[in-house]
Amino acid sequence: MRKKIIAGNWKMNKTLSEGIALASEVANMANDEVSSDVNLILCTPAIHLAPVSSVIKDVANVSAAAQNISEHESGAYTGDISADMVLSTGAKYVILGHSERREYHNETNAQLADRVKLALDKGLTPIFCCGESLETRESGEHVNFVNNQLKESLHHLSAEEMSKVVIAYEPIWAIGTGVTASSDQAQEMHKSIRTALADQFGAEVADGISILYGGSMKPANAQELLTQPDVDGGLIGGASLKARDFIDIAKSY
Ligand code: PGA
Repeated sequence: MRKKIIAGNWKMNKTLSEGIALASEVANMANDEVSSDVNLILCTPAIHLAPVSSVIKDVANVSAAAQNISEHESGAYTGDISADMVLSTGAKYVILGHSERREYHNETNAQLADRVKLALDKGLTPIFCCGESLETRESGEHVNFVNNQLKESLHHLSAEEMSKVVIAYEPIWAIGTGVTASSDQAQEMHKSIRTALADQFGAEVADGISILYGGSMKPANAQELLTQPDVDGGLIGGASLKARDFIDIAKSY
């Protein structure tokens, strides 16, 4: 049974007090309303991680995640955040390779390969993002493009390491645009990602990996996406900033 995961990517939103309030609302609603087999992850700005971790600590199926880490363990990297720092807050996951990081901070597949490995070595679970632009999709190259992202950032892992990674497929054209991939488009890509993982790491590992869909997921379209056979969860941006919407998505399986 693959893990069901609904992750909220807060991006650069919410002051500290607003973030703590949102996390406690989510924790209370999760306790009352969300099935215990659905894992909720709050991907907060780094400065929110410690207080958010303490707000959610008594709710077993809610965890915290960082939105990035450095590929270096420590040292003179002003403004960066290390895996150990993230772990010391109580967070258990880290988003790696979000398209906004790739675009605005020029993160490369090779750099992400190092970050994924470091996260795993330290005991943080990576949520590895992949996905194509509109131009790439229109050229018909989307499957090859995503397979190459997987190859260049994940193929150095052992099968055992890979079994701990969560994948998020996020077509760039659907992020923050209100345009969602159709359930057929999402299923086609998730299946192709799983097949590519099976070719490299074996069918058993690929069958166990949770693949999340991201890109304008909201309560109104969550059920259709989450009931696709290879869509195991969601990475939610805009709709994760309202506790009610985020929880309603988590109830859509
Ligand atoms: P969105 O963002 O739900 O606002 O489209 C998703 C993401 O970037 O993770």
